[in-house]
Amino acid sequence: MLQEFNKIEKVEGTLELPGDKSISHRSVMFASMAKGKSRIYNLSNGEDVKSSQKCFMQLGAEINNKNKFIEIKGRGFKEFIKPDAPLDAGNSGTTTRLISGILIAQDFESVITGDESLSQRPMKRIITPLTAMGGRITASEKFTLPLTISPSGWISPIYYELPVASAQVKSAVLLAGLHCTGTTSVFEKFPSRDHTEKMLGLSTKITDAGKISYASKSDYPEFKEYFVPSDISTAAFFIVLTLLSNNSELRIKDVSLNETRTGILTVLKQMGAKIKIEDEKTIAGEAMGDVIVKSSNLKNIEIPAKLIPNIIDEIPVLAVAGIFAEGEFKLKHAAELRGKETDRIKAICHNLKMLGLKVEEVEDGFSFSGDIKNYSQVFESFWDHRIAMAFGILSLIMQSGGKVNNFECAAISNPDFIHQLKQICV
Ligand code: S3P
Repeated sequence: MLQEFNKIEKVEGTLELPGDKSISHRSVMFASMAKGKSRIYNLSNGEDVKSSQKCFMQLGAEINNKNKFIEIKGRGFKEFIKPDAPLDAGNSGTTTRLISGILIAQDFESVITGDESLSQRPMKRIITPLTAMGGRITASEKFTLPLTISPSGWISPIYYELPVASAQVKSAVLLAGLHCTGTTSVFEKFPSRDHTEKMLGLSTKITDAGKISYASKSDYPEFKEYFVPSDISTAAFFIVLTLLSNNSELRIKDVSLNETRTGILTVLKQMGAKIKIEDEKTIAGEAMGDVIVKSSNLKNIEIPAKLIPNIIDEIPVLAVAGIFAEGEFKLKHAAELRGKETDRIKAICHNLKMLGLKVEEVEDGFSFSGDIKNYSQVFESFWDHRIAMAFGILSLIMQSGGKVNNFECAAISNPDFIHQLKQICV
C-alpha cells in the first residue's frame, strides 16, 4: 500500500500509546512459562507481539483477551507441549531469539520459521552460546531460519561475554539459564535494554568494565499482573514530529522511561529539544511518566558510542530530525543496524539520497548534510516498520508532503499509527 502524507500545520493534544513491544513480548513469555493465570494490561497490539502469543499458544499456554487485559494461563517449569506445526515467528527477531533460550531446555523437538526478512537475519549469535549450554540447534548453512531445536538431555550454566550489544542474545542465554542447575551469567560492555533482568528480578552487578546479569532456576517466573508502559520507540516518531512542527506541543502518557531506553530523549535534549517529564512512577520495576514535548530548533551533535545500544531502534527517526538540525548528522558504531528488519543503514541512505542530500555510507554508520532539493518523494519502507514510520514523519514535515511504499508494515509495532496522527495533527 502506497501511503500518502500531506504537510501538517501543527501538533497538539495528548496521546495514549499501546504497550512497549519489548516488555510486551516478555510479559507474554514469562506469563506463559509461569504456572497459573497472569494478567497483562496495555499489551502491544502490534503483529510482532501477536507472533509471540501464537507461538506460546502452540506450546500449550491459554491466552484470552478479556478487553481490559489479556489473561494467560501458563504451563509451569518444563511443562510446555510439543507444537503440532513449526512455530512461526513472523517478522519478530525478539520472539525467535528469546523463545530459543526456552526451547533448548524442553523435552521435545521444535522448529522456528519466519517471514522473508526474519529468515535472513543472523541467528549464529544465539546458536553459539545456546549450543555451549548444551542446546541442540540446527539452522540453514548461513545460520539463519528455520531453526530446529532438539531435546538435548542436559543444559548447563555458562558465563558468557556478549560479542555484540544485544538484549535479545543476553535474554536468550538468561532464559536458558532459568532451566539450569547453577548460575548462568552474562557480561556486557555497553548496557543493552534490561527488561528481562528487571521483570524477572534477576541480580546484576555493575563494574568499571560493564555489567553482569545472573539467572538460575530460583528466578523462574511465577504468575502475576503485568502493566506495560507506552512504547518509547513508538513515542519517538511523535516526539520528532512535534519538535519539527511550528507552534506545537504534545503530551504522551505513561511512556516507558527505563534508563536503558531513554537515550533518544537524552540525545534529542542535547540537540536542543524542549522535552520534559511529568507524573513519573515505577510499576513492577519499570519506570514510566508523561513526556511533554514542544517545537524546538535542533543542532546535530556527536552521538557517544556507548549510547548506540540504547537508541538503536530510534535511529531512523533520529536521522529525520537530523535533516532539519543545524550542521552535519554523523553516526558511527552502529553496524548492528545492518542486521535489523532490513539493512537500516542502506535503507536510510537510499531515502536521504533521493532528497538530494550529500550522504556518505560507511560500514558502521552514515553521515549527511545539505538541504532538501527534491520534493514530492516516494520513499521506500523496505518492508521495515520503523523505516516506514520515520519517512512518514518526514513527509508530514515537508512542504510538498510525501508518500511511503508498502506502509502496511507499520503494523509490526503500531497498527494505529495513522489514527494516532489524526488525533494530534492539525
Ligand atoms: C529488542 C532488542 C533489540 C531491539 C529490538 C528489541 C528486545 O535488538 O533492536 O527491537 O526486545 O530485546 P537486539 O537485541 O538485536 O539489539
